[in-house]
Amino acid sequence: MIIAIPKETYPSEKRVAIAPENVAAFAKLGYEVLIERGAGKAANLADSAYEEAGARIAADAAEVWKCDLILKVTPPSMDEAGGIREGATLISFVYPARNEELIQKLADRKINLLAMDCVPRISRAQSMDALSSMANVAGYRAVVEASHVFGRFFTGQITAAGKVPPAKVLIIGAGVAGLAAIGAARNMGAIVRAFDTRPAVKEEVKSLGAAFLELDFEEDGAGSGGYAKLMSKEFIEAEMKLFAEQAAEVDVIITTAMIPGKKSPVLITEEMVRSMKPGSVIVDLAAEGGGNCELTESGQAKVAHGVTIIGYTDFPSRLPTQSSRLYGNNLVKFVQLLGQADDFKINQEDEVVRGAMVLDQGKLSWPPPPVETSVAPTKKPEAKPEELGKEKKTKNPLLSGGFLLGLLSFALLALGWNGSSEFLDQITVFVLACFVGYMVVWNVTPSLHTPLMSVTNAISGIILIGGMLFVSGANPWLAGVAIFVATINVAGGFLVTQRMLKMFRK
Ligand code: NAI
Repeated sequence: MIIAIPKETYPSEKRVAIAPENVAAFAKLGYEVLIERGAGKAANLADSAYEEAGARIAADAAEVWKCDLILKVTPPSMDEAGGIREGATLISFVYPARNEELIQKLADRKINLLAMDCVPRISRAQSMDALSSMANVAGYRAVVEASHVFGRFFTGQITAAGKVPPAKVLIIGAGVAGLAAIGAARNMGAIVRAFDTRPAVKEEVKSLGAAFLELDFEEDGAGSGGYAKLMSKEFIEAEMKLFAEQAAEVDVIITTAMIPGKKSPVLITEEMVRSMKPGSVIVDLAAEGGGNCELTESGQAKVAHGVTIIGYTDFPSRLPTQSSRLYGNNLVKFVQLLGQADDFKINQEDEVVRGAMVLDQGKLSWPPPPVETSVAPTKKPEAKPEELGKEKKTKNPLLSGGFLLGLLSFALLALGWNGSSEFLDQITVFVLACFVGYMVVWNVTPSLHTPLMSVTNAISGIILIGGMLFVSGANPWLAGVAIFVATINVAGGFLVTQRMLKMFRK
């Protein structure tokens, strides 16, 4: 079976669906790759690189569009859709909600249409989540664009010519794009603050070295599907008050706030823009959905009240080599789900494939049934009073906390009564050491709970306490060695973690 890659024809689109390194991955699955001449040129990926990797260069676009399986970045144009072979399979970004006419045309040609923008955001599909890959690139590029028009350094410096204060950057919305922007701005040396309606992202924001701004307002923005939910009017008002204070203080604002399928909330008003220092920059990543800034013009950059407001909608295409590589990797993983070349099958039992399916041999199968993917712990439904009564009645009394406590006290009493004093000493040490080991692990921030930290610290904690209690006993040397080795392990664990964190902080 042939995988065909056409050249992107959307105006100013520089990406290409796969990079040369993906050709080998497809070959491993038994596919032959056919790519249109010059398809990767704008992304600095030469035809010769694809050829060296084993791909064949197509004589013309028509040869590509005749194939059975076509991989693309942007949705096809109406002309391209007209040239596609009846019954073929097309995988690309589709945005079905806003491309009805195109979908109708593809449906008439009995196409299997799989939308990379509809791959559900579940952990199993992370490697195929092209929206996240592109948002990651967009977040990084937003910082690059901001620094390009900002008239100062992002990093602070003390030089012979004077002291340069670091730039202050505010990121609104700490999803994929927001986190990438935080990382890039921190790496450039800026002071970064971030705000998000989902308090769950606080730890991630802090681990990237940014400050997490908080509101004195009780409302969690975590919704279902791993996305945020629409916030109440009162919450939006409260956060806008916070942004009004911040706008006067910061140099750069990068907004990424969005709720899928809804218009982007307006969070930065003209009044706030006016309060910003001249030369400040706003990058509005949500421009395509209406923008988070009142003055954003979708697809444009403009200056208003001395502030540059960037509303580009093609950030991933502005880093085409990187975007094409990441998108190509997403496609390889997605095609793997569809099987090897001689066993190609669009298996709709698979929730990832089903989620991405827009047309099934021309039959509309979008929107798919919802996939529950909330990252937030699912709240247990509150039981009705009569159910509570039932639960009480059916609960096994043997398993109740009181009974277990009683059993434990009885076991300890029996041990104390019959055990030798040496045995009692040892069990005391063991219980104490287990307790300390447990505390050593539980008092470490969960984000640092690497297997290294949790397991070795627990064991080392137990050894340490055991050794300390036995050092005055019969074998002081042995206890000393145990203390020494366990201390190296605990201190080494912290040292390694610290070095790992430094790699991210800079
Ligand atoms: P995401 O869903 O991962 O993140 C959005 C974040 O905004 C979430 O963390 C959410 O909690 C937060 N949020 C929602 N409402 C908020 C509010 N009222 N206040 C504060 N935070 C709020 O989305 P992702 O993938 O990071 O994309 C972000 C935006 O970037 C989207 O609008 C997307 O369309 C856009 N984007 C733009 C590109 C461009 O070229 N302009 C390219 C790629 C993405």
